[in-house]
Amino acid sequence: MAVIGKDLARAKELLLQGELVAIPTETVYGLAGNALDAQAVVKIFTVKNRPQFDPLIVHVANRAQAEKLVESIPPAAKELMTRYWPGPLTFLLPKKPLIPDLVTAGLATVGIRCPDHPLTHALLSSLDFPLAAPSANPFGYVSPTTPGHVNAQLGNQVKYILDGGPCRVGLESTIIGFENEPTIYRLGGLGVEEIEKVIGPVKIDLNTSSNPKAPGQLKSHYAPRKKLVVTNLKPISSSYTTQRVGVLAFKEYAVGVKHDQQIVLSPAGNLEEAAKNLFSALRSLDTLEIDLILAEPVPEYGLGKAINDRLRRAAAQ
Ligand code: TXA
Ligand code: MG
Repeated sequence: MAVIGKDLARAKELLLQGELVAIPTETVYGLAGNALDAQAVVKIFTVKNRPQFDPLIVHVANRAQAEKLVESIPPAAKELMTRYWPGPLTFLLPKKPLIPDLVTAGLATVGIRCPDHPLTHALLSSLDFPLAAPSANPFGYVSPTTPGHVNAQLGNQVKYILDGGPCRVGLESTIIGFENEPTIYRLGGLGVEEIEKVIGPVKIDLNTSSNPKAPGQLKSHYAPRKKLVVTNLKPISSSYTTQRVGVLAFKEYAVGVKHDQQIVLSPAGNLEEAAKNLFSALRSLDTLEIDLILAEPVPEYGLGKAINDRLRRAAAQ
């Protein structure tokens, strides 16, 4: 198993050696390596069992670092960076040649993000290279939001997990690109409304084809191992009551299923709280003696859009 701790010097030492370290961010834990070292990047793909057509997000300490990695930053992106960085927003921008093609899966753009977590900020500030970091889970599975989640799945392959506690946001970053018009490619930890407040209406392109622009757009992704169905729980349809079911509810327990087989995401009906608890809840339900997870859709605004998106992808088999 990996060592879990807060030793920044140890994390830095490993990264300088071309090794991987799991790092905390406000969204989910990342599996980080030197983004400018193709051999370190290869390790990321290997450990995650990730297909090489799936590009990685590059993490920086600040905008000045980002400017060294991309050819240009459009005005709308600059406005969003000023307002929301550090934070859960990833920008697709034209890459400079110093970023290995493996990082971007051969694409001309690179995903860049400045995460909002004090430990990871200190780590990034102490390095003279940026960190490529996908979510620290096997490809296709639910993202980790605690050091324990990372250790359970990748602990045999990662030496060190930097312990930043449970993730504050709990959903991966929102991804935005600017090729023709501002377009959101992945709903995430920053609500669409927050983005539109700064730059006006944006296009949303959550392609679910088999050849997506971002594999986070794959129809089936972010999925627990158990079968999951998104359905209304008031009442639970009689077609499910004969099966061993677990329930993922938004505000209150569903009638007809034992409470220890249910998780309520936010008794107060708060979407931020629900987002923060979502991935832990899916992991817990995945360990129960049940055959099926019934998940209730949440209100479709703010972070609710991203939560429902993750539930739909978790349901696609
Ligand atoms: O919150 C997050 O973004 C977390 C933390 C660790 O920062 N990272 C994360 O990385 O979710 P990952 O690799 O699990 O998801 C990144 C998504 C993938 O769906 C990938 O295809 C897409 O971003 N992506 C990265 N670079 C891209 C590019 N140049 N063009 C299109 N999509 C890109
Ligand atoms: Mg991921």
